[in-house]
Amino acid sequence: MSRIVFDETAIAARVRELGDAITADYADGPLLVLGLLKGSFIFVSDLVRQVKRPLQVDFVVASSYGTAMSSSGDVQMVYDPETDLAGKHILLVEDIVDSGRTISVLWDVLSKRAPRSLAICALLHKHMAEHLHHPVRYVGFDAPNEFLVGYGLDHAEDFRHLPYIASLK
Ligand code: IMP
Ligand code: MG
Repeated sequence: MSRIVFDETAIAARVRELGDAITADYADGPLLVLGLLKGSFIFVSDLVRQVKRPLQVDFVVASSYGTAMSSSGDVQMVYDPETDLAGKHILLVEDIVDSGRTISVLWDVLSKRAPRSLAICALLHKHMAEHLHHPVRYVGFDAPNEFLVGYGLDHAEDFRHLPYIASLK
C-alpha cells in the first residue's frame, strides 16, 4: 500500500458536512437512504448517523462482472430493496463513481418506481465517468485516478475494514 489518501479525521469531517447538507436539503417527506453493497456499508452507517431527520435505510446489491481492478459493462441487480420506493425521496449511496456504469443502471431501474425524488451521494468521484448521464448531487471527495481501498472499498474483497482510504498504486 503506497499512501493514505484520506485519513480518518478527514473522512469524519467530510461525512459530517454531507450529513448537514442532506439534513438541510430534505425538508419534508419520507427519505430512504439506499446503500449500494458492499462498498458503501461503512459510509452509509457513518452518514446516516449525521443526518438529523427521520429516514429509513435499505440496500441494493449490484454486481458487475469484471477483473479485480476494472469493472465490465455488465451491471446486474442481485438484491432488490424490499421497501416500496413510490413517493419517497431516494438517496442512492455509492462508495466510488468510476466509469459511472453502475450508477447509471441503478438510476434507470429506480427511477421507474415512482420515487418522489432520486439523488446520488458518492463518497468518492474519479470524474472519469463518461457513462454517467445523471448528476452526483453529493460528493465526499474528488478522487485521484488510482485504485483506492479501505473504508468499505475492496481489492478482491480485501481491505474493506481499513478506517482510512489508501491507494494501492
Ligand atoms: P463504475 O460502474 O465504473 O462507476 O464502478 C463503480 C464500482 O467499481 C464501485 O462501486 C466499486 O465497487 C468499483 N471501483 C471503482 N473504482 C474503484 C477503486 O478505486 N477502488 C475500489 N473499487 C473501485
Ligand atoms: Mg468492488
